[in-house]
Amino acid sequence: MSLTRRRTLALIGGGTVFAAAAGAGSFLATRTPHASIATWAAAGSYDDARLNALSWALLAPNPHNRQPWQAERVGTDGLRLYRDPARALPQTDPFGRQLTIGMGCFIELMVIAASASGHGVDLTLFPQGQGDGHPVAEARFIPGAASPDPLFAHVPARGTIREAYEPRLPEPAAVQALGAHASVITDAEDVADLRQLTWDGWLAEALTPAAHGETVDLMRIGRREIEANPDGLAMGGPFFESLALAGLLTRDVQRDPESRGFQFGISTFERIIPATPAYAVIATPGNDALTHIDVGRRWMRFDLTATGQGLATHPLLQVTQEYAEMAELRAQAQAMLAGEGETVQMIARLGYGPGRRVPSPRWPVGALIRDG
Ligand SMILES: Cc1cc2nc3c(=O)[nH]c(=O)nc-3n(C[C@H](O)[C@H](O)[C@H](O)COP(=O)(O)O)c2cc1C
Repeated sequence: MSLTRRRTLALIGGGTVFAAAAGAGSFLATRTPHASIATWAAAGSYDDARLNALSWALLAPNPHNRQPWQAERVGTDGLRLYRDPARALPQTDPFGRQLTIGMGCFIELMVIAASASGHGVDLTLFPQGQGDGHPVAEARFIPGAASPDPLFAHVPARGTIREAYEPRLPEPAAVQALGAHASVITDAEDVADLRQLTWDGWLAEALTPAAHGETVDLMRIGRREIEANPDGLAMGGPFFESLALAGLLTRDVQRDPESRGFQFGISTFERIIPATPAYAVIATPGNDALTHIDVGRRWMRFDLTATGQGLATHPLLQVTQEYAEMAELRAQAQAMLAGEGETVQMIARLGYGPGRRVPSPRWPVGALIRDG
């Protein structure tokens, strides 16, 4: 057992967990939510070039794993893409800024995946303007119009790594490659300030009941919940199952700041945020939906470039969120990271991770098609 896990069990009442786990060993051994992560294996197995590209695009990073995307097939070579209003985050993303960044990640990954089969994608963003419910993009797939994008090779290995990173800086060549997509911050004092800022933001969100409640509502605890809803914050596998069996991991526990379960969340982030050797930041002159799509496209390329360089990333956007309890920290983030008139859009940890990753769940491609 890893030290981390031992510490965790001690913190949340290890004896009980061991008792529960010991009596339920064979049950726990079956608790990996295979069906929900099978979507990763199914990517690229479709005949239609559009479905194929979408089956990769849905593996894009996105806030709270809401998977806000929908696609309508138009004719034989077109797609109309939407952001699903039912998959909003009204507390932590009241203007849909982060979700639109997620749409940008999705669009960029679709274009990258299409290139792997030689398809160019003719994109029109917000063809009917940026209003609510309007399509985010129209895309036409053109065979033979693109050569494969080398970033495509890194898609199967990508994922958000919420772990302690090694105490060494990214290699200079990696920093240079990543610098094409985001600002990479490696200066020791700046990194120390960002650790403090991202920790303060994480804690402020956790202690704001409405914002934290939105996260708790999206927790999928154990295999049954994950497979019923392969989105949100998946807490699966034998470890979390054993906590759930012991009654230490429930939504009610997670809502109570006095509970051990809540304190466990705090202790996890209190441990991993200081273990961050570098940060990535994107700030933009504009702050409209078109800008957010562009940020997402850049972030997708950053994420895949980092994966290709053996680096882990972990967005921590609490201090960019637009609600009253975050206003002071948001102003601090703006002062630290944005130029005059700019808006901070992305802040992420960057470093060498533990080299393992559990793929996060996804709905299969059929779930995002909304043909009439
Ligand atoms: C705009 C944006 C904001 C995000 N904010 C956070 C965050 O504040 N904390 C966090 O742990 N992950 C954050 N993420 C990562 C998502 O939670 C993650 O992409 C999603 O759960 C899917 O998992 P995957 O990236 O491992 O495929 C963010 C991702 C995006 C694109």
